[in-house]
Amino acid sequence: MPSPESTVIRALLARGTTGWVSGADLAKKLSVSRVAVWQYFEKLRAAGFTLETRRARGYRLLAPPPHAHAGLIEAHLKIRPRDFTLTVLEETDSTNDEAARQLAAGRPAPFAIVARRQTKARGRLGRPWHAPQNGNLYVSFAFRPHLEPARMNPFTLWMGLNLCELIANATPLQPGLKWPNDLLLDGRKVGGLLTEARVDADQIRDLVFGLGLNLNSPASSWPAELAPRAVSLAELTGAPLDFNRLTAAVIGRILLAYQRFLDGDHVKTFADLWHRFDVLRGRDVAVLEGNRRHPGTVLGVDDDGALLLKDSAGRTQRFRAGEVTLEKPAA
Ligand code: BTN
Repeated sequence: MPSPESTVIRALLARGTTGWVSGADLAKKLSVSRVAVWQYFEKLRAAGFTLETRRARGYRLLAPPPHAHAGLIEAHLKIRPRDFTLTVLEETDSTNDEAARQLAAGRPAPFAIVARRQTKARGRLGRPWHAPQNGNLYVSFAFRPHLEPARMNPFTLWMGLNLCELIANATPLQPGLKWPNDLLLDGRKVGGLLTEARVDADQIRDLVFGLGLNLNSPASSWPAELAPRAVSLAELTGAPLDFNRLTAAVIGRILLAYQRFLDGDHVKTFADLWHRFDVLRGRDVAVLEGNRRHPGTVLGVDDDGALLLKDSAGRTQRFRAGEVTLEKPAA
C-alpha cells in the first residue's frame, strides 16, 4: 500500500503547478482528518516543497524541492523492479562506500543511495570528487550480479552510454562519452562513473556503480582548478533542471540498463550507442598506463569495452584500463 506521503505527493504531481489538490478529497481517500492532511502538507513544506494554500481550493505545488527528496523521486519513478529500494541521505562520506558497507551488512540488492553532499567522494584512481551540496547528483547503485568477473568488463561503458542517451533525450544537449568513464558536454566534464566490485574466486559477490552528474551547480561554484574543465547541465541549458524528476529518470534508466546487461541484451545496442556518443574515435590521443605513455589514433572499442589504438607502426593496441589525453583538437 502506498504511504500517505506518497499519495499526497502523487496527487500534487498529477495536478502539476496549475491545478489544486482538495484537502477534503485527500482526507477521504486516506481516511484521515483534514488536520492530518494539513500536517502532511506542512511536512512537505518543511522538506522544501513550495506550496500555496487557499481555503476554498486546497493545495497547489508551486515548485518542487531543489534537492533530493526520497518520496518525490519514488513518485517520479516510472519503472522499478519490485525489490528495489532507495535511500536519500543528507550527507555521507562517499555514496560508493556507504553502499559497499550496506551490501556487506546484508541489505538486499538492488538499492540506490543518493546523498545531498559527500565529504570524501572518490573518482577513479582514488582522486577526490568535488561533492558539496550544490544541486548536483551523487548516487550509487548496489547490485549482486552473480556473474563471472570478465562479463562485467563493458559494464561501466554501457552505463555511460545509457546516461548519454538519457541526457540527449531529456535536454537539447549533445553529450559524449570519453573512454573509460567521463561524461562530457562541450568538451568539459559533466559527470563521472565509478564501478567497484568485490570478487570471490569466480564470481562477482557484489558491485557498486557510482555516478556523479553535474545537474544544477552554477558556474561560479566550481573551485578554480575545476572551473575550466567542469560544467553542469543547467549551465548549458540556461535554467535549473527538476532535480528529483531527472534523478528518477536516471535511476529508472540505470535499473533497466542493468537488467539488459544481465540478460546479455546489451550487445547490439552497445555498438549503436557507442557510435553515437564516443568522442574519441579517429582522434590522436595518448593512453597513460601507469608511467607508460602510448600515443596513437583511436579506432574504437571492442566488445569487451577495451580501447583500440593504432600506433605509429600501424599496429592495433588494446587497453583495458588507462587515462586518455587528447594530443590535438579535432579537425
Ligand atoms: C570519475 O570521474 O573519476 C568518477 C567520479 C565518480 C563520482 C561519484 S559521486 C557518487 C559516487 N560516490 C563516490 O564517492 N564516487 C561516485
